[in-house]
Amino acid sequence: MKSSIFAGVLLVSASLVSVEGQSWVEFQQKHINAGMTPDKCTKVITDRKIVTPPNRCKVFNTFITQNVNAVPAVCAGGGTLYGNGYTISNATFNIIDCTQQNQNQVPPVVPPKCLYNGTASTKRIIVRCEKKKPVHFHGTK
Ligand SMILES: *[C@@H]1O[C@H](CO)[C@@H](O)[C@H](O)[C@H]1NC(C)=O
Ligand SMILES: *[C@@H]1O[C@H](CO)[C@@H](O)[C@H](O)[C@H]1NC(C)=O
Repeated sequence: MKSSIFAGVLLVSASLVSVEGQSWVEFQQKHINAGMTPDKCTKVITDRKIVTPPNRCKVFNTFITQNVNAVPAVCAGGGTLYGNGYTISNATFNIIDCTQQNQNQVPPVVPPKCLYNGTASTKRIIVRCEKKKPVHFHGTK
């Protein structure tokens, strides 16, 4: 009984954390960096304190490297419904995928010691929109 109450408390706090992460401001902080180059993954992720809550290295993060003004259009007519509540952009974007390179170390590396490799490409972005703004980055295609 005691342990199920405890698990319930953990679940509630986990869902609060994920709701906090779902805003346009947070989206920009995690996923937009105009002019970024692939060699900057470690620096940008460290400087912006992008982690998996509460404090683990985020294994994978994508940045859109175009001007921030180009992005909300995806949620305001420049996108198509995709899957369960997502929107895929009609246009392609310049992106950088950052993958943690020291993710299999034992004991695990923790922030701010996470190191990343970056790969640039041009893809459509898949996001969740709220009030015509992207609030969650789902992936690319
Ligand atoms: C995006 O694509 C959808 C589906 O093809 C289309 O209805 C919509 O007009 C397009 N938006 C723009 C801005 O081209
Ligand atoms: C990541 O970058 C490091 C340093 O540049 C390199 O040694 C390593 O091979 C790269 N790893 C992958 C998976 O590309």
